[in-house]
Amino acid sequence: MTGAGGGPGSSSRSRSAREASYWDVAYDADLRRRELKYYAIQGKRRAHYLAALTEASGPGARALELGCAKGHDALTLAAAGVDVVGLDVSAVAVEEARAAASERGLAERARFEVADAQELPFGDGTFDLVFASGTIHHLDVRATYAEIARVQAPGGTCVLTEPLAGNPLIDLYRRLTPSARTEDERPLTHDDLLAARTFWREVRVAWFHLASIAAVPLRRTPVFDPLLGALEHLDGALFRSVPPSRRWAWYATLVLRGPRPAGAERRELGQPSRGLDQRAD
Ligand SMILES: C[S@@+](CC[C@H](N)C(=O)[O-])C[C@H]1O[C@@H](n2cnc3c(N)ncnc32)[C@H](O)[C@@H]1O
Repeated sequence: MTGAGGGPGSSSRSRSAREASYWDVAYDADLRRRELKYYAIQGKRRAHYLAALTEASGPGARALELGCAKGHDALTLAAAGVDVVGLDVSAVAVEEARAAASERGLAERARFEVADAQELPFGDGTFDLVFASGTIHHLDVRATYAEIARVQAPGGTCVLTEPLAGNPLIDLYRRLTPSARTEDERPLTHDDLLAARTFWREVRVAWFHLASIAAVPLRRTPVFDPLLGALEHLDGALFRSVPPSRRWAWYATLVLRGPRPAGAERRELGQPSRGLDQRAD
């Protein structure tokens, strides 16, 4: 790998060292098991995310996953003919991802490396698709946006799915469960979402999980599927017709196109003022 990254400096490096220590242990000991119950309601968001990845890639496309963990999503794309690089700061995760690639006969198409997503070791415009699930909120968001926009091809796409700050009950739950979190992770704020417009001309945001969270305690009962379907329907209607409700969404998925080159075009935009869900220009 070449050292093409601009680099956010030493505080981001110590942050990524802390993340690596946490995740090496977490992947070894399955520390986040308690959080798994929430995955019961995440099927719709996951399906939307995977569909966005598939739409933005195809056989022979070059893709980069940030925070690839054990390589699950990267290997899904590799199996569809995409050439994927997966990066993670956790050496434990990367070893497991490499083993999974070999086991599935995908090692030629899926390469996994230990690297810092805030300092990408790739040249400008290398990738048709850059993607990440639950990773950007562990990083310096703006430094990472800048790095993604740099390595993304001008006609390429970035797809991110990340937890959001702002829902008082979810924020309280996070404060009560510190051991399930790293010291540095911060759910994305609305300003973090708006800041994407400094780096991309087109920013599209889809919002997920508000009323549907209420289905979690019933996940092992027969009413779960119909209840979740109804609550997801309610969420969709709320997010569409009552925009302030988006501030309480648990997750957002961003599709980012048209990376702005570093320099004048970015500075000129300054603090974005218009809402999301529109093209940025
Ligand atoms: C919440 S996990 C998400 C894993 C996976 N993408 C998923 O959806 O299950 C966050 C991942 O980001 C990785 N990570 C944290 N800081 C990183 C950094 N600076 N560079 C690359 N990966 C990082 C962690 O090691 C971890 O695998």
